[in-house]
Amino acid sequence: MAQIHPKTTPIYQTSVFTFEDLNDLELYFDQPDHKYMYTRYGNPNSDELADEVNSLEGGAGAVATSSGMSAILTAVLTYCQSGDHLLCAEEIYGGSAALLSQELTRMGVAVSYVPGEKLYSLAEYVQPNTKLLLAETMSNPLLQVVDLQRLASETKRAGIKLLIDNTFATPVITKPLHLGVDMVIHSVTKYLSGHSDVTAGAVVAAKAEDIERSKQIMRVYGLNLSPFESWLAARGLKTLNVRMKQHCFNALAVAEYLYSHPKVEQVWYPGLAQHPQHKLAKGQGSGMFGGMLSFRIEDDLDTVNTFMRALKHIPFAPSLAGVSSSISHPLRTSHRSLSAEQQQKLGITLGVIRLSVGIEETVDLLADLAQALDKV
Ligand SMILES: Cc1ncc(COP(=O)(O)O)c(C=O)c1O
Repeated sequence: MAQIHPKTTPIYQTSVFTFEDLNDLELYFDQPDHKYMYTRYGNPNSDELADEVNSLEGGAGAVATSSGMSAILTAVLTYCQSGDHLLCAEEIYGGSAALLSQELTRMGVAVSYVPGEKLYSLAEYVQPNTKLLLAETMSNPLLQVVDLQRLASETKRAGIKLLIDNTFATPVITKPLHLGVDMVIHSVTKYLSGHSDVTAGAVVAAKAEDIERSKQIMRVYGLNLSPFESWLAARGLKTLNVRMKQHCFNALAVAEYLYSHPKVEQVWYPGLAQHPQHKLAKGQGSGMFGGMLSFRIEDDLDTVNTFMRALKHIPFAPSLAGVSSSISHPLRTSHRSLSAEQQQKLGITLGVIRLSVGIEETVDLLADLAQALDKV
């Protein structure tokens, strides 16, 4: 066969790698980073993705996982075992809350939720067995922005690890590990892959020993990412920078438009001067505020359905961060598993629409929203 020097990494669509003999096998065990044995333990495509995410986040190492959920599970199990307790910011993706409250509690890991205003003084929440705090750089769905540097000094003072879900912000906007955070997780399904065609996750650690433990968990629990999904995600990642610029540009224009619209009761976007953490978001995000926003129209089922049906180019799709815009409905999708009381407390009502602003022409987006709002 002729010599092959591909410009891009081929897809190593194999579940296993071959060895010449037992000496060759021993080389793998001596230096596992120089050889591959079995795709669940490691594959060139998932390693390529992990390396790219690691260098974007500025970590000591990373591991790719089968989803954002398995990234959170890996991260939590890196630090916690049965009998431990963890803290979680009250406003968080509903799936993360379900994992902690409904599943990890069954394995003997207790969880307490900390309201946003209490995050920087944790004394009343920390117990002798508390191991970590989980929060999001920008919360899902109402875009509350956490002061990561301040939070990291508080968790250090409390003697616990800080685990940050950086899915909404991406490392283009904020690099939590540079601000003192111990571990970052991503739903790579979202901006990092960016084209709504991959389900994937990543864990990045500030310390090499932590990521070694995460890798061990990924392998033993079988939370690895397949070669093809890794390849797709690594491909998407190459355009993250340019995509984020356009997501942010469009989102600010849309947020300003919705803010001034008489049928819109409230808009949550960190780029608006009226947002409670606008100044913090500006500093922490180097002037970029992300592509996600939420807004409230009338808390009425017919109004919401009419609006959804009237949109011509922005589908209702319960995910986010693709190149084309989409809307979602937190009450009925991502935050469905919360109790009615929790939903009410967080302000997630029937009229709240979450908008994932894509990279389309700004005027086209504004026109679609305008004609749909006209109909409600
Ligand atoms: C902020 C955040 N973290 C984690 C997840 C879970 O990611 P995945 O769906 O890739 O498992 C999601 C999913 O929507 C999310 O929005």
